[in-house]
Amino acid sequence: MDHKIAVYPGTFDPITNGHLDIVNRALDLFEKVIIAIAINPAKEPVFSLEERIEMIRKCYPDSNSRVEIDPISGLLVDYARKRQAKTIVRGLRAVSDFDYEFQLALMNRRLERDVETIFLMAGFRWIYISSSIIKDAARHGGNIENLVPEHVEEKLKEKFNINR
Ligand code: COA
Repeated sequence: MDHKIAVYPGTFDPITNGHLDIVNRALDLFEKVIIAIAINPAKEPVFSLEERIEMIRKCYPDSNSRVEIDPISGLLVDYARKRQAKTIVRGLRAVSDFDYEFQLALMNRRLERDVETIFLMAGFRWIYISSSIIKDAARHGGNIENLVPEHVEEKLKEKFNINR
């Protein structure tokens, strides 16, 4: 297992500045961060997997970037093992995240003892945002400037037919 590689999993429907903040923090600690996009049919994403990958890729246009983007379909810990990654990174925004994250981390530990989950605290500016809340605001024409990268804002407007 490689201690220098971290996997940052999520649905990223779409990626937000809060997620990017966590990736930046992880890059201070790890040599490589793999953004693992979960194919989670239960969540019924608004954006297709290809669209989500494309939006994240545009955030890291440098091909030598220490960020890799990969879709995952099976168990997260199997993916981490396959990539020899020792660490799963998750962001914590508020106490409300804790219960779910605690469950997820303990289940992952049960499934694979050799992979550790670490939690990074999201920056204060991002603690109230989520992909859903941003989609909801965008759907109703609300201002989502500075909560997502500009190209994601454009995609959201396009998706919800907002012309402003
Ligand atoms: N900034 C902004 N928003 C954030 C955030 C941050 N720093 N951190 C989390 N969020 C938001 C996300 O936008 C998401 O919002 P949404 O619910 O409105 O879409 C929510 O918090 C949490 O989602 P996310 O980080 O995308 O995780 P998830 O709960 O959708 O995905 C997986 C969880 C992918 C990690 C989990 O389903 C998984 O591991 N799947 C693989 C299969 C597996 O191994 N399952 C067994 C695990 S025991």
